[in-house]
Amino acid sequence: MTLALRAVPSASAATQNAVIRAQGLSKTYTAKSGPHVHALDPIDLDINDGEFVSVVGPSGCGKSTLLRLIAGLDPQTGGTLALGGRAVEGPSNEVGVVFQAANLLPWLTVRENVRLPLRVGGREWKVGNRVDDLIAMTGLSDFAERYPYELSGGMQQRAGICRALARDPKILLMDEPFGALDALTRERMNLELQRIWQTNAKTILLITHSISEAIFLGSRVIVMSARPGRIIADLPVDIPRPRSLDAILAHPSYQSLSRQIRALLNAQGEVE
Ligand SMILES: Nc1ncnc2c1ncn2[C@@H]1O[C@H](COP(=O)(O)OP(=O)(O)OP(=O)(O)O)[C@@H](O)[C@H]1O
Ligand SMILES: [Mg+2]
Repeated sequence: MTLALRAVPSASAATQNAVIRAQGLSKTYTAKSGPHVHALDPIDLDINDGEFVSVVGPSGCGKSTLLRLIAGLDPQTGGTLALGGRAVEGPSNEVGVVFQAANLLPWLTVRENVRLPLRVGGREWKVGNRVDDLIAMTGLSDFAERYPYELSGGMQQRAGICRALARDPKILLMDEPFGALDALTRERMNLELQRIWQTNAKTILLITHSISEAIFLGSRVIVMSARPGRIIADLPVDIPRPRSLDAILAHPSYQSLSRQIRALLNAQGEVE
């Protein structure tokens, strides 16, 4: 409790150009039988244009629920939620989502899967070389014509990330996107994601169980309580970019943030 109180001061609470704004946002899942699940306590959250916000919290605390609400995939049961000042009423072209599982269509090749979001209503968005560039960036060029069953889990996940980026969405929502990757690929993807964010002016919300990943990538780290999830800390990461994986570990801000977040999660019963 003491820890939570100490950590609560917000990084950017009073913001004017919030691209994502949640006010009193809450979610309760209604069950046909058995008790309802109160997943999210009322949450106030402003995310500014171009911010990179990492979210950590205990398993089952409502992180994916929050992401699904922002993605317009599920309706909230309380409060308001707006993207760019407009209430969220369903999925938007401006938002790309990367889920924990890649969910590729098994009858399409990697390239066809990545192109899929570009085909809407019988028309195809013109995006130049972006699809092939994305496939190359994630090291999948040799597998562009292969089918998902011919790929490892990590490769499928990389294809899923390419698919989310195909339309060059302004907002990217990522739900533990690198959990299935081996350590080296994960590091490479972290660097690539930092580069994409720095060069493309995207607003990114990243859910992760990795404290180091949250700090490495985030301009802020939001820490959530155990279910029903609420925000118990909103911590700015004042470490200059571009950040390198080696250098950040030795940075004093990294070490103190890491300790602080770990203590908060431990107090919620979660250790990384
Ligand atoms: N569609 C659903 N119907 C009913 N309950 C749900 C549904 N989706 C999630 N829940 C419940 O809501 C709570 C929060 O789930 P959520 O998936 O948001 O947690 P999480 O923080 O993403 O967990 P994890 O870190 O394990 O992915 C859980 O108790 C879960 O059982
Ligand atoms: Mg989840």
